[in-house]
Order: sequence, then C-alpha cells, then structure tokens
Amino acid sequence: MLHYKSKLKIPQFFVSIGAGTNQVPLITAAKRLGFNVIGVDRNPCAEGAGLCDLKIQESIENYEEIYQKILEIILFGDIKGVLSRSYGSAVKSACFIANKLNIPLMPYERMDDFISKKRMKSVFEANGLNTPLHIQTDQNNFRKAVSKLSYPCVVKPVTGHAKTGVQRIESKADMQHFLTGNDRKKCPFIIEEFVRGDEIIAAGMIYQHRYILIGITDKKLTPPPYFVDLEHIYPSRYFDLWDRISAIGQRVADAFDIATSPLIMELIVSEGRELSLIEAAPEFGGEFISDVLIPEGTGYNLIQQSIRAVSGLGFRTPVQKRIKASIAVRYITARPGTLASWNEKAARRLPGILHVKLFKKAGSATAFPTTNHDRIGVIIARGKTREAAQAAAARAESALNITLNESESGHNEQ
Ligand SMILES: Nc1ncnc2c1ncn2[C@@H]1O[C@H](COP(=O)(O)OP(=O)(O)O)[C@@H](O)[C@H]1O
Ligand SMILES: [Mg+2]
Repeated sequence: MLHYKSKLKIPQFFVSIGAGTNQVPLITAAKRLGFNVIGVDRNPCAEGAGLCDLKIQESIENYEEIYQKILEIILFGDIKGVLSRSYGSAVKSACFIANKLNIPLMPYERMDDFISKKRMKSVFEANGLNTPLHIQTDQNNFRKAVSKLSYPCVVKPVTGHAKTGVQRIESKADMQHFLTGNDRKKCPFIIEEFVRGDEIIAAGMIYQHRYILIGITDKKLTPPPYFVDLEHIYPSRYFDLWDRISAIGQRVADAFDIATSPLIMELIVSEGRELSLIEAAPEFGGEFISDVLIPEGTGYNLIQQSIRAVSGLGFRTPVQKRIKASIAVRYITARPGTLASWNEKAARRLPGILHVKLFKKAGSATAFPTTNHDRIGVIIARGKTREAAQAAAARAESALNITLNESESGHNEQ
C-alpha cells in the first residue's frame, strides 16, 4: 500500500495593526518566527508595508472593517496572532480581532478603561492601586473642588498621549488663566495633585494572567511646566523595589482582566519610597524600551516573546532581574530654529553606541520641547555602568554636532 505524505503546509499568519516605522520591529520579529505577516495600515506605502506578505489598506481604528477584510483575504491558513506596536485605538483593534479569533490578549471592551485617563484612574482606585488624587471637569462640584486645590498640580487631557497637553500649574492665578484659556475648551481634562519624586518605567508582560516584570528604568524629564522625556536609563536606581512593582503589575493585570499582553507602567517613587501609579498601558510603549533597551539591557526579546505568547508558540519567561548591560536612551532637543546640519556617522562610530537617529529632515523647524513629538533625535548607548552608558550617549551627542539656523524672533523662547 502506498502512503502519500502531504507536502501541503498550512500557512500561519500574524496580523500587525499598523505598518508604519514604529511597527517595523514587530513585523520583523514575526517574520523571523516564520509567520506570514498581514500589515494593516491606511497608508499602503508605510515603511513596514513592504516587509509584510499581505496588506490591508484600512485605518487602524476601523476594527470591524479590518476583521472583515482579514476573513476575506485568508482563504487558506490560520491566523495565529495579532498585536500592535502602536497605542490606544490600534491596540483596541488588535484586542477586537484577538477576541473574535480566540487569540489571548485582553477584552476589547476594557480598552477604553485605559484610553480614558478618567476611567483608568477609577479602575486604579477601585482596585486599591495608589494613584495621584484627581478631579475632573465634568464632576458636579468641579468649581468647588478647584477652589480647594493645592499647588503645584498637573492638568492633562482625558485622552492623551506623548505628554501632549500635560502641564504643571504653579498657582491659583495660573489655574484661573488655564481655565479661562483656550486649552480648556479644546478637550476635557483632569487635574491631579503633583507627586514629587523620581519617575520610573516598569516594562513587563502578562502571560496567562500572570504579570512578569522584565526591567525598570529611570527617567529624566525637561524642567516644568512640561514633562517631555529626555533620558531613560537601565538599570533603575530603584531596582530593589522589584517585588513591590511586580505586585502592582499583577494588580493591574487582574483589575483590567488582561490575559496576555505587554504592559508598560509609569510610576513615581516619592519620599518614603511610596509608589504612585501615574499611568499603565497594555502596550509595548515607545521610547525604544521594548525593542532596544530591554533586549540589550536584559537579554530578553520582549517583542518576540510577546508574539510567541499570543500565538501559542513556546513562550520563555525572562531570567528575573537580569542585568546584561547598562543602557541609556538619550533624546535630543533643540532651541527654536531650523535644522541645518549634523554628522550621524561621527556619532555612530563612537564606542558603545547602539543607535543614532534624527527624526527630522534638514530645514525642519525646531521648537522648545512641550511634547515628546518636539524631540529631534535619539542616541542609544551601552556601557558597563549606568554612568558609562550615559557618558557615551552624551559624547555621541557632541559628535553629532547639530547646527541650527536660529529663529530670528526668538519669541518662542521661555
Ligand atoms: N500627578 C503627577 N505628578 C507628577 N508628575 C506627573 C503627574 N501626572 C503626570 N506627570 C508627568 O507627566 C507625564 C505625562 O503624564 P501621563 O499621564 O503619563 O500622560 P501621557 O499619556 O501623555 O504620557 C508623566 O510621565 C509624568 O512625568
Ligand atoms: Mg504617560
């Protein structure tokens, strides 16, 4: 009797919600794992689209349309996983598709609890997570609550990202000015007590409802009133808070009913080592943390393991508290003007430099940073110690030798 061995292999698909520059690490990691990648993006010429096997031209927000199109183009094969390297509504779309296809992620209906800071803070509070006290514009006694505020405090849009619209307010008079100004009419916002202390980021993931902390980084910010990220340094000086931060991560996972997902948490360590949870997001986050800092600093490939986790491939938990190298992610900012020249090659060839990138083209306008989008470039460096990594990044910034044509009016200056 003859036995025929079928050569037909069932294609395995992975969906990336978004196919722009930021998605490239996710798309390449999925390709390396052997998946056929479906890239969803409104822009068919997006930077990662060429790396994808199939493209769906659709806005990342239109989850129902995306789902329909996925069903239409996959005539033969299995969709094993879906993720987004983006944030907010892109992650919500990933959850919708995951829920439909029984891929473990988080309930799509719960994503708005992250997207709205107001709802996020209510969930934190209801689950005993320590978060700064806040008031919100649409609450009944808003005026009365404002009159009782102590200063400084922080105003932020209810749905915001990348520090846009987040501002420290120093006094009652400034608050009055803010409340009567344009900003208030543009979008609903919340006001929080200002928490003094050192800010850290906890990068971790949730696998089968269990939170796993992978790395903690320190953060340096611009001076008030804005909160633009200038530097992330690994390992954190607060490494010893590992177990307490892990417990917070687990509480977030439980409170938002997350099965499997990366999770970024921003916390402030205040006097007495009290931990205050500023924000949490079931995302890889930006800032080169998931794709460069974590793999280089800890040896753990967070993006690849997240794809494995949602796709049901063998998942490996990280070696806890592993410090393979110290890493500094240093952002470059500039005064108002236009970008004239720089020398990336000179910066790249210095020792310890992992990555150098200018985000803007020659001739682009530069401005004092008020949001993360105003930063003009980044340098990532590795060192034996935190100080060595930071010094290498600083040297590379000097070697970059960025020159500006200064703005003549200078009225943007603070
Ligand atoms: N209550 C607060 N006290 C001190 N700093 C804060 C507070 N809220 C926000 N910040 C600072 O502002 C930054 C942005 O706030 P966040 O709520 O995370 O908004 P975004 O979504 O834009 O990241 C934080 O990373 C932190 O540096
Ligand atoms: Mg934040």
